[in-house]
Amino acid sequence: MHKQILDVSKRRGIMYPSFEIYGGVGGFYDYGPIGSRIKKNIEDLVRRYYIIEEGCFEVECPTLSPEAVWVASGHVSSFSDLMTECLKCGEPYRADHLIEEHTGKSCEASDMSAMDELVKEYKIKCPKCGGGLDRVYSYNLMFQTFIGPGKNKEVAYLRPETAQTTYLGFRRLWEIARKKLPFGVIQIGRSFRNEISPRQGMIRLREFNQAEIQFFVEPDGKYSPRFDTVSAIKAKVIDKEGRESSLTLKEAVEKGIVKLQMIAYFLGRSLQLFKEMGINPEALRLRQHKDEERAFYSTDTWDIEYMSSVFGKIELVGVSDRTDYDLSAHMKLSKQDMTVNYEGRKFIPHVVEVAYGIDRPFYCVIESCYREEGDRVFFSFPEDIAPYKAGVFPLVGKDGLPEKAQQVFDLLKKEGLYVFYDEGGSIGKRYARADEVGVPICVTIDYETLEDDTVTLRDRDTKKQDRVKIDGLCKAIVR
Ligand code: GAP
Repeated sequence: MHKQILDVSKRRGIMYPSFEIYGGVGGFYDYGPIGSRIKKNIEDLVRRYYIIEEGCFEVECPTLSPEAVWVASGHVSSFSDLMTECLKCGEPYRADHLIEEHTGKSCEASDMSAMDELVKEYKIKCPKCGGGLDRVYSYNLMFQTFIGPGKNKEVAYLRPETAQTTYLGFRRLWEIARKKLPFGVIQIGRSFRNEISPRQGMIRLREFNQAEIQFFVEPDGKYSPRFDTVSAIKAKVIDKEGRESSLTLKEAVEKGIVKLQMIAYFLGRSLQLFKEMGINPEALRLRQHKDEERAFYSTDTWDIEYMSSVFGKIELVGVSDRTDYDLSAHMKLSKQDMTVNYEGRKFIPHVVEVAYGIDRPFYCVIESCYREEGDRVFFSFPEDIAPYKAGVFPLVGKDGLPEKAQQVFDLLKKEGLYVFYDEGGSIGKRYARADEVGVPICVTIDYETLEDDTVTLRDRDTKKQDRVKIDGLCKAIVR
């Protein structure tokens, strides 16, 4: 299936590897004309959940920041993976991935010497050329660069997460939130990680998109008044000891498996969000990070993982209790006060973070919505995710039908709808082209249209055809 999805994605402008004419570089992908529209719709759905429904503010900060930011946050010292290289051909490997691939078991080792031992114990060689492997060493994933020219240039880094740049504005955001807790701030934008050997298409990118929400809360305020709205959602749950169960979120909280109700709430909201994007809910599970894998800034992290038929498990979002780690760290280095006086108490707010990638959910939407029916290939994207609301086609390219179809096209555009016009080839071919990019409705203008101002609406999933009046067309399209 992967090959078919890739073929149609490249051919129809959904996504394709970047820098193709120069042979490509691992970890970079382009969104084509169709993919860009789908990605935008995914981001807008996230905005609907978090800005409209959860009341968050949105910010947009630079992707490049001075070194001090990443020294304070701990990324300069700790944002690393353990790697090894082939002594013969130089191929780099992420040590844990290499050990897992070789042994077929998850790699429990978390430090350099333990991984080194495993490489030796299992006599692991370079999978590419069979050469011996170098010692395992720590490799920082941030891209380093400089701000400014000449001798006074400053060391800088491309951000590996949006979160830090949101924290930097905390004092201003606190004022904007009228000095009340809790409040949430979303940032949607690019992040960069110089991943060691990204071989999984758009699942592990070196430049990628995140939608990260930081909820600033009282230290003892990690609950949600709206937990009831998600508490009945049932999910497969794996705790940090690897114990699996199938539970409602209410049960998971009551049994103390998910300790913080606020984390459970956002896991529930994320399950709702992914389902609305079109991701197969049956393929999703909640997994708590083991102590040794958890990021240095977090005391508890839960991921939602998608079980892909192509890539295996894919982490789509991480929900973490970051405590006051980040604000305290920036307070220490910047000497700016991050404490608040709130309801008679003075403290540094804690942060619960909901950190979505955009590219991975994008891929999972594509994989979940891909359908084959005989020769017919289509994507059953939800209407809010589909790249266009409708395609407009004259049945034939003569007898005034193209002119009438253009009028219908203009009418839909005036309503602000994303629609496209196509008069090339047979009507069957045009339907097939629309199916291949998941357009939910095709509007065909035929000879009857000239007589009674009705058009044919053809549904992508059922292929069912209905006739509607042109003056009721917008309503019929925006269902
Ligand atoms: N601020 C917390 C943070 O960055 P993370 O788990 O490292 O947490 C959050 O990243 C999300 O960003 C992940 O769940 C994933 O969807 C996405 N992501 C992380 N690294 C990625 C990469 N190399 N390529 C594509 N998406 C990535």
